[in-house]
Amino acid sequence: MIKASIRRVRRALLAAGATAVLAVGLLTATAGTSQAATQGPCDIYLAGGTPCVAAHSTTRALYGAYNGPLYQVRRASDNATRDIGLLSAGGYADAAAQDSFCAGTSCVITVLYDQSGKGNHLTQAPGGGAAGGPDNLANAFEAPVTVGGHKAYGVYVAPGTGYRNNNTNGIATGDQPEGMYAIFDGTHFNGGCCFDYGNAETNNLDTGNGHMEALYFGNNKSWGWGSGNGPWVMADLENGLFSGVNRGFNANDPSVNSRFLTAMLKGGPNQWALRGGDARSGGLSTFYNGVRPNATGYNPMHKEGAIILGIGGDNSKWAQGTFYEGVMTQGYPSDATENAVQANINAAGYNSGSTGTGTLTPGSRISLQATTAPCCTSHYLRHNDADNKVVISNTNSSSPTTDKADATWIVRAGLANTSCLSFESANNPGRFLRHFNYELYLDFDNGAGPFAQDATFCPTRGNSGVGTSFQSVNFPTKYLRHYNYTAYIASNGGSNSWDSGTSWAADTSWLAAQPLG
Ligand code: AHR
Repeated sequence: MIKASIRRVRRALLAAGATAVLAVGLLTATAGTSQAATQGPCDIYLAGGTPCVAAHSTTRALYGAYNGPLYQVRRASDNATRDIGLLSAGGYADAAAQDSFCAGTSCVITVLYDQSGKGNHLTQAPGGGAAGGPDNLANAFEAPVTVGGHKAYGVYVAPGTGYRNNNTNGIATGDQPEGMYAIFDGTHFNGGCCFDYGNAETNNLDTGNGHMEALYFGNNKSWGWGSGNGPWVMADLENGLFSGVNRGFNANDPSVNSRFLTAMLKGGPNQWALRGGDARSGGLSTFYNGVRPNATGYNPMHKEGAIILGIGGDNSKWAQGTFYEGVMTQGYPSDATENAVQANINAAGYNSGSTGTGTLTPGSRISLQATTAPCCTSHYLRHNDADNKVVISNTNSSSPTTDKADATWIVRAGLANTSCLSFESANNPGRFLRHFNYELYLDFDNGAGPFAQDATFCPTRGNSGVGTSFQSVNFPTKYLRHYNYTAYIASNGGSNSWDSGTSWAADTSWLAAQPLG
């Protein structure tokens, strides 16, 4: 096990080239310990002369020697908090500690600790010029993953969620050089402003061009975009998401959507670069490397040194995304150092947290099969394409690809209660099954309280004795039901036509099936 770990790190370093050689001392120095990884990205940045001044992760240590807390969770039942640490120094998150602390209730992530020793922790963002606050905190169960085979949780940013630190230590200001990287879920994004990680204003206001330098990920085209339909990694430099030297379009910034995405940004006097790659394998591509944008206010820069996650500099909080780890450095990292960091990220072994398919475990992909015979046993719950209604329709493996995808759901921990479940559309990330006036729709999670309630269903034994029924969390007498091929929440007898007692038990009982799409 230890030998395999060392081999993995050694392979990663060899793949990374020259800079990796600098890190071999670290490797041999700690080879006798029992941890999974003997060095982290911040050891590599340090060896390259550009130390981390902020290092945030909910999944793993970012230094080989780090053995402190990664993040803090708060549970709803009694508002108690708990720091979540590591399984061993330099290793992976102790996700089981979160599971047991939050059992039977829900938890949010309250603090992302800074591992760099600079005290640059991230906490709940306050209101700002664009939107009031405080912002929402991330549900601690929404982004399950495995890293190096170990269960962990990322930071799932629904619109309205944001973290900030306006009182930092060692983060670049003015035109000082810095670098940063983050690992995002490349399939979780939107066009809202602005899913960012990096340097921003210290007063939560838009203080002008060049006052930010943060990684952005999503398909917002208000300021800049790249080739294809997005999403893109861009630089949020304030009043502009830049995909290259021009405002607007830059062809060299590609659409990127690998499940785990490494995004990198660095900036110094009249110089900056944007890079990215698949966090699971392969190297980095350079999307831009050159002078500051040809627009006023960005040269020299006016960085202020706050750190944001999930929001824009002025607390614009309409974006969504998922963050697993990220750092900010002092100084402009070399490409070779960044390549070595990418090799380290590859070796960490990020994987989907899905524990299988066709199961009601958060992260799993499923299709929900109706059980009412004889009409409906080949029908599956799906969203329409023409409108946002939810129906059942006859679907099988030979159905058109879109139909199969429309009938496929990603199981999520319940947005309003993590002991229950929510269902995110597999082909419309960020849109969830929810009821409105007792009818089911596919809607965006807008971060507002009622949405979470309307989108949360508690699984119970099937009302007909078959499969599973899904009880509405805010209308507990009502269950997810199909009626005349349309989906509702329905009670067994009631004022709506779909509350009819005829076939109610069968109509509210579903099979969690293998995903069609
Ligand atoms: O630069 C894009 C966004 O513009 C910033 O994040 C925000 O502060 C402003 O609204």
